[in-house]
Amino acid sequence: MPVDDFLAGLPKVELHLHLEGSLEPELAFSIAKRNAISLPYADVEDLRAAYRFTRLQDFLDIYYRGMSVLRTEQDFYDLTFAYLTRMHAQSVRHVEVFFDPQAHTHRGVPFETVLDGVYRALIDGERLYGITFHLILCFLRHLDEEDGFATLEQALPHQDRIFGVGLDSSEVGHPPAKFSRLFSRCRDEGFTVMAHAGEEGPPDYVWQALDGLQVARIDHGNRALEDPELVRRLAQSGHTLTVCPLSNLRLCVVDRMEDHPIRTMLEAGLRPTVNSDDPAYFGGYMTENYRAVVEGLALSREEVVRLARNGIDGSFASNDRKAVLHDELNAYLAQTA
Ligand code: ADE
Ligand code: ZN
Repeated sequence: MPVDDFLAGLPKVELHLHLEGSLEPELAFSIAKRNAISLPYADVEDLRAAYRFTRLQDFLDIYYRGMSVLRTEQDFYDLTFAYLTRMHAQSVRHVEVFFDPQAHTHRGVPFETVLDGVYRALIDGERLYGITFHLILCFLRHLDEEDGFATLEQALPHQDRIFGVGLDSSEVGHPPAKFSRLFSRCRDEGFTVMAHAGEEGPPDYVWQALDGLQVARIDHGNRALEDPELVRRLAQSGHTLTVCPLSNLRLCVVDRMEDHPIRTMLEAGLRPTVNSDDPAYFGGYMTENYRAVVEGLALSREEVVRLARNGIDGSFASNDRKAVLHDELNAYLAQTA
């Protein structure tokens, strides 16, 4: 079986996806039109041509501009359902997705409008495609902790629909320690917590996420490899790293896919997984991310299967759901042996 077909059919789990980062230019233009908003780009090609980044902040500037077309509950539904339809076509069986409420409430869109649209689509995706999910609220780290607390107050009445909290946006200059009181409160409230760390920021930010925020998972974590003591710690604790290969390439976290650290992470006894981050902006969804590392690093079938298993084991799915996902993966491997 050709490797592309194997990767397309491989049952997969996505653990690092910003819903707003799945907004394709075509959908952005059609939503802008129905909301009578004009985008500062002539057309879809012109918008896509702007997707050239040399660092995280270049991307974030365009990401926040793009999502500003999202205004109504239906907009958030359409965004989320379009992502799930793609994931169904790519054999993705479980997703844990981020949303950035502050990026919407600061524009005057009510918290409930965002949550209701996103959640309705997630329920429909589970019903129609069998894709199970968890929804994770990300705090924007370029804003202050007080803003995070205000957002938490808006989230608390909806805790039945929000599984966990994360920390994203501009990393350098906004260390995890800036949010230690907020994350302590979130843990007390029963949220599972995670944080972006070590994407552009130094290994010390990963230490802060682990010891200060007490995260259950590290989003990215690439730069942890610079600190042997941290590598030992992560290997021992078994923290999952939600690695995003095409994102790393497009944001110049790595220069070439041949230099991507995901195999080094496997060899060091860490638990990396493959994810897409902001697929509409970085050139690919789950299958394309697997293909990128398989081609760039000539990964073996065993290494690919290890990454897929890490996705299941590193998820926050129930043990029963994990067992079903492993059974499905095992059946696929037997059928493609
Ligand atoms: N928000 C969306 N994508 C992000 C990323 N890769 N890093 C930090 N914040 C983000
Ligand atoms: Zn991310």
